[in-house]
Amino acid sequence: MNNAERYDLVAGEIEGRIAMPKESAILLQETIREYGSPYIEIGTLYGGTAILAALMGVRVYAIDPMDGYNTTGNRDPINNLTPVRAILERNLDYFGVQISMFEHRHPPFPKALKDFSFGVGLIDGRHDLESALADYDALKGRCDCLVFDNTEVRGVAEVVEQAYSEGWILKSTVTAEIRPKQTVETRVLSK
Ligand SMILES: C[S@@+](CC[C@H](N)C(=O)[O-])C[C@H]1O[C@@H](n2cnc3c(N)ncnc32)[C@H](O)[C@@H]1O
Repeated sequence: MNNAERYDLVAGEIEGRIAMPKESAILLQETIREYGSPYIEIGTLYGGTAILAALMGVRVYAIDPMDGYNTTGNRDPINNLTPVRAILERNLDYFGVQISMFEHRHPPFPKALKDFSFGVGLIDGRHDLESALADYDALKGRCDCLVFDNTEVRGVAEVVEQAYSEGWILKSTVTAEIRPKQTVETRVLSK
């Protein structure tokens, strides 16, 4: 299965949705293929990106409070579902994959992973400056490559600028139009 087919499979059959457009998800998979295992993500929702990575055969670690789209129990504005752990578990079972899930708000970074290093880290939790910075601070010394989703959001873009100033290099970027006049951007940074 190629990256586009894997995306179509997950996007078409997941309960809830994958919150990453196809272009970004293809780039994420290319990055995982290049940088290898393990993969860690902050921000999992219904499991879309974690399942993509797990289907590629890499070890997956994920951090998400699993308590609603906006971390307050709110419903997902796109489909009116409340993302909860039970949906993630059904999705993992459906696709026949396993991940290591840390069900809490980041930070703190899980103690069990404090000495781990990762091939790829996806930063896709809350997109305000403070949250994205905390996620970057935790992953920057542990990952060979960082994928920032939603770099069109100012807070995330500011963190990316900080990463550049700390020696990270833009490796690739992709933009996708998700609705008329609404584009999202994903950037991959390497050391
Ligand atoms: C954009 S969604 C993730 C989408 C997922 N990566 C995908 O593409 O399908 C954002 C997720 O970040 C989670 N989140 C919000 N604040 C967080 C935090 N402090 N630590 C970890 N996850 C957080 C939310 O619960 C939500 O599930």
